[in-house]
Amino acid sequence: MKLLLVGLFALTLFSCSKSKIPDMTNDSTYYSEKYRPQFHFSPEKNWTNDPNGLVYYDGEYHLFYQYNPYGNTWGHMSWGHAVSKDLLHWEHLPIALSEYLDPATGDSTMIFSGTVVVDKNNSSGLCTGKDCMVAIYTSHVHKDNQGLVQHQSMAYSNDKGRTWKRYNKNPILDIQRKDFRDPKVFWHEPQQAWIMLLVIPDLFKVRFYKSTNLKEWTQLGEFGDIGDTTRIWECPDMYELPIENEAGKKKWVLSLSGSHPAGPAFVGMQYFIGEFDGTTFKADDPKQPPLYVDYGKDFYAGIVFNNIPKEDDRTIMIGWANNWTYGNQIPTSPWRSAMSIPRELSLKKMAKGFRLIQHPIKAISSIRGEDIKDLSSILKQSFELEIAINVSEGKESGVILKNTDSYTKIGYNSSSHEVFINRTMSGDVSFNKDFASIDRVKTEPTDGKIKLHVFFDYSIIEIFANDGEATICEQVFPDPGPTIVSSFGADSVTITGWEIKSTWR
Ligand code: FRU
Repeated sequence: MKLLLVGLFALTLFSCSKSKIPDMTNDSTYYSEKYRPQFHFSPEKNWTNDPNGLVYYDGEYHLFYQYNPYGNTWGHMSWGHAVSKDLLHWEHLPIALSEYLDPATGDSTMIFSGTVVVDKNNSSGLCTGKDCMVAIYTSHVHKDNQGLVQHQSMAYSNDKGRTWKRYNKNPILDIQRKDFRDPKVFWHEPQQAWIMLLVIPDLFKVRFYKSTNLKEWTQLGEFGDIGDTTRIWECPDMYELPIENEAGKKKWVLSLSGSHPAGPAFVGMQYFIGEFDGTTFKADDPKQPPLYVDYGKDFYAGIVFNNIPKEDDRTIMIGWANNWTYGNQIPTSPWRSAMSIPRELSLKKMAKGFRLIQHPIKAISSIRGEDIKDLSSILKQSFELEIAINVSEGKESGVILKNTDSYTKIGYNSSSHEVFINRTMSGDVSFNKDFASIDRVKTEPTDGKIKLHVFFDYSIIEIFANDGEATICEQVFPDPGPTIVSSFGADSVTITGWEIKSTWR
């Protein structure tokens, strides 16, 4: 068995170094399989989960992602890699970090989630030039007879992320715990130091560490045990966001993955608003009922980009558009899972307090195709709709997106004050008993109107309600064929639409 594994690893090494960057954009069959998203990122083949190491460097946005090079279910976790100049058109690059086997001990190590920073002043001493890219990831080690250990390790690249070397003194942080993972590192200007956040998932704790060289870390404070603790915590992140309606003001947000607003049978993301005092995060109101990032079933492990230039100053999050409850069973092949549209984050002061606001990145309008003149026959299944519902007497009003015999309903219920998506009739729902669902989020009309900005991309629907006050990301697996968009309910519903061009062909 062990021999077989060693063989497999040797093969990985060989095939990674040989793997070519595909240039298939003129091939009309490329990225045209059933359910294949056309403007969301998905790997050519095989399984992906969390986005990892999101970073901007020298004109390129890097997306690393949890990846199984051998199949389209979870396993053999490695870091896949792609780059983009606009966060929409992605170029696949060879695997950045592969699962590996220690020939001396027989221990195998998977590369779990983590972060990438640009080490601007060569603080690590690992750069051959003035700067380089440093990845800090969870080394998930399977020790024979001893079970699992998770510690943090480092790798670096001196060629814009094209090739990576593991640091020879790994691990860089080990607290001898089975579950201790998902480092996020960022540069904290006021302290002139690197700050790292990690989770101890089963204790609902986020731990803070500090370093000046990325190699040696000192423990700072801890945050946790508040908010939603019904499911383990994963993938923490922390960033300062501008307040949309208070010019010049900012507040810190700590987000993490864990349980879902619909309950612990599903995974989702929550966030806290407060302050970072240099050693720990303090929530403004520790008793605040949980605040969730997205109310669809398919938005998890979202993290934000590091190193976006100051002049730009956007905070951009990408999430994994899937759910652990049924993720390994969704009916797609040869790939499984995709990433959300990149979202620009901010805060808004509302009557109930500060809330997260999410917008699709503005550049998405650059891939708009024709205006849709005839909503009863949209040839492709990738398009964008702006919907306004004049909430008056209708109990439920909205739109139906129909493909042959399947349909998805999106709308507003004025009795429960909820935006909802109903995917119970959306096509293939048979692969898991928990997939068919109606998901909802409380939203109040503004001037009597509910606005829904909807992106439909073959098997992913993203809804931005009321200028980003609430979002829903959901997968659907509709029948093939053109989409018929129609309205339902007694309220007046106006719909404007655009086709969206493929970013893959
Ligand atoms: C979150 C997660 C992380 C872990 C990774 C493993 O989806 O469980 O906590 O690092 O996936 O693939």
